[in-house]
Amino acid sequence: MTHAPQPVRLADYTPFGYLIDSVALSFTLHPTATRVKSKIAFRPNPDQDATDPRFFLHGEQLTLISAAIDGVPFAPVVTDAGLSCPVPDAPFVWEAEVEINPQANTALEGLYMSNGMYCTQCEAEGFRKITYYPDRPDVMAPFTVQIDSDLPVLLSNGNETAPGQWTDPWPKPAYLFALVAGDLVAHSDHFTTASGAPVDLNIWVRPGDVDKCAYAMDALKRSMRWDETEYGREYDLSVFNIVAVDDFNMGAMENKGLNIFNSSYILASPETATDKDYLWIESVVAHEYFHNWTGNRITCRDWFQLCLKEGLTVFRDQQFTSDVRSAPVKRIEDVIKLRARQFREDAGPLAHNVRPEQFIEISNFYTATIYEKGAEVIGMLRTYLGADLYRAGCELYFNRHDGQACTIEDWLACFEEIAAVDLSQFKRWYSQAGTPKVSASWRRDGDSLHLSFSQQVPPTPGQPMKEPAKIPVSLGLLAGDGTEILSSTLIDLDGPSLDLTFDLAALSGGTAPDHVVPSILRGFSAPVVLDMEMTAADRALLLAHDTDPFNRWEAARSLLKEVLVAEICHGEAGQKDARAMVWNALQDFCNDTTLDPAFIALVLSFPSEDDLTQATVDAGVVPDPTLIAQVRDARMRDVGAWLKPTLEGFIDAVDPDAPFSPDAASAGKRALRNTALSLLSSPSDLARAQDAFASATNMTDQLAALAILIRCGDRDAAAAFEAQWQHERLVLDKWFMISVASAPSAEALDTAGALSHHALFDWKNPNRFRALIGGLVANPAAFHDPSGRGYDFVAKWLIRMDGANPQTAARMSSAFDTWRRYDADRQALMQNALSRMAASPGLSRDLAEMVSRMQAA
Ligand code: TRP
Ligand code: ZN
Repeated sequence: MTHAPQPVRLADYTPFGYLIDSVALSFTLHPTATRVKSKIAFRPNPDQDATDPRFFLHGEQLTLISAAIDGVPFAPVVTDAGLSCPVPDAPFVWEAEVEINPQANTALEGLYMSNGMYCTQCEAEGFRKITYYPDRPDVMAPFTVQIDSDLPVLLSNGNETAPGQWTDPWPKPAYLFALVAGDLVAHSDHFTTASGAPVDLNIWVRPGDVDKCAYAMDALKRSMRWDETEYGREYDLSVFNIVAVDDFNMGAMENKGLNIFNSSYILASPETATDKDYLWIESVVAHEYFHNWTGNRITCRDWFQLCLKEGLTVFRDQQFTSDVRSAPVKRIEDVIKLRARQFREDAGPLAHNVRPEQFIEISNFYTATIYEKGAEVIGMLRTYLGADLYRAGCELYFNRHDGQACTIEDWLACFEEIAAVDLSQFKRWYSQAGTPKVSASWRRDGDSLHLSFSQQVPPTPGQPMKEPAKIPVSLGLLAGDGTEILSSTLIDLDGPSLDLTFDLAALSGGTAPDHVVPSILRGFSAPVVLDMEMTAADRALLLAHDTDPFNRWEAARSLLKEVLVAEICHGEAGQKDARAMVWNALQDFCNDTTLDPAFIALVLSFPSEDDLTQATVDAGVVPDPTLIAQVRDARMRDVGAWLKPTLEGFIDAVDPDAPFSPDAASAGKRALRNTALSLLSSPSDLARAQDAFASATNMTDQLAALAILIRCGDRDAAAAFEAQWQHERLVLDKWFMISVASAPSAEALDTAGALSHHALFDWKNPNRFRALIGGLVANPAAFHDPSGRGYDFVAKWLIRMDGANPQTAARMSSAFDTWRRYDADRQALMQNALSRMAASPGLSRDLAEMVSRMQAA
């Protein structure tokens, strides 16, 4: 039994006692015995705060061959976490040689192998598995790297100075180090920066994949230009390399000048990638590229500041996607994701601050809260300041902090200075977990409309009491005939409550309208839960007439949610009229032929089962996952029947012979067509979907049809799809996922069990593992099957994965974070699964931390 790992605390931060002037690494690659030589020039840190003179180098799973200081060999005492030794009180040179085993590295952290190729993943704390080093982001240094190997392509950060020899002139922390060696080919291109500097661009892939890189390359060039025009940021090396690897724990990694990607975020062809894949490729390529300034040139002082680079970079990639696609559609999609992942996290045992104050394993904090809520916080800052001051504050940040490792305080100070504002209350967004709830109500009094807002930040683990947040609420008013009488106005809800009065006569230029409907939280101006009582008729009015596209969509979403939850909670009886009203509102909406198809598709899409589960809990009813799936399915069919001619029109509007283009407009038409197809299909009406499956000429349409057929119990299509795509790894992942995620709950568990014995279920590959195990979790009625089989299956596989790859196991364990929502039997079964994980021998620090947080009362 080892000692329980101690948490690291933000309050304990001290600078490292030494600075590094240069790092020289040389690698002799071998699958099981790679040698790494390091030569590091240290000198004492003159910073007065660097009170800890102890010389400690992190190092894990390394075999130390030799060590020397200023050329004098010695044998340091090493532990399983690193080594410390006496050093001169003056500049000195550290030299070491270690041996590592990349082939045995199934955790995919440090140097590992994927399909015969060597690659690295060092963020957050993986460099310590490559050599002894102060593996902390505030230690920045210029690196040179020498790679010895017979493999044809040898890459590292910076510029290549000789074959296999790389120099990165920009000081960087170890987590941005990268090395790749393999039998790779490049899709190459060129870029000229705004100031005229030429840059070679390469996307390196396995030989068979080189024809699937064009879209990622195009996205890269557009990202580079966008960062110049929107943030004034240019690229700063003569080459930018991207490598696609099949085995990768996350989406991608922003290593300086050498981004490494999960191949699923690079490779695309119309036949193998869906429109969603294209969208993801574009935004992840942009995200990693944007890190070059927000993350690399300016990095984080410590890992508690992770949102400094991640929240900001997500915000930047969201802006990019808004600019190059449709801003309203992007906002709606981001909010759907925020609610599904971040609100869920914030409402449960894993809730944490955007800037956490302690952690046991930092890998567990690459979360929706740090990324997505972190991005919302940047968006609110921009909303408060306006675009110009926001840009000026960013400019100051880039100029003042280039080359530094910074904190949230450094970032905020730039905006306080530029805009002459006090952001101390705003800063609570970084230090208070939990999704604020904003309650809104209104009352008519003659020509006046009184609007009242109040806010409440709920208690979260370790934070029973909260201070009021500073919440930007964008507001408009519509008259009963649909005309807007107040255009978007920003309200600052910065206290427990706020009362406003509007003179309706003045707003409408004479006579006050009989009826007025407020449109609140336009554009989802803050990451809060809005609680308000509004009649279905008023919501329908917003759906029909709101000038704010987000709130139009939100009106449809809340109408759907309301009728579905009413039926889930109280049964079908008495809901008929309410439903007819909503279906009619959707029909009226669809009659507007000027609307963007992608937007209509979002309006017609149903809230997810998980959404409905949370809404059921909020209504005070214990959720029954099977019932929720049934009601959702049945009402989708109702809408299909009610809107039939309109939906058939949407299907016919797509020309089946038009050549495929991944652009947003074409993708939007396909999204609407496939949404319509899904609403129109049922087990007794499958001809359309079967036809669509058989005649599909691109993966978007083929996969959409397949999902419908699997949902409706037709497994022939699944078999045909498997036969067709068994040799395309990324497509087969989709098949594994959808075979379980879309299956009726009665079949899903058996299918998952059978697929776990499939010859191609290569479970150590994170994409494949996430496809199958994540597919079951994505099917709530199956995962929460009353027998407990779903929990057993997932827990068993998480335990197995934990032995090979703790990060991937720990990330997926959050499937259990909602156990408090359910009935006593399910709670007991879920807790039992958590206890089994907790008791599993050799449990990783990663999974142990997750499980204990989820178990805590
Ligand atoms: N910095 C990466 C990004 O968001 C995230 C990342 C990639 C990561 N690989 C990782 C984080 C492994 C933790 C562990 O762009
Ligand atoms: Zn990132």
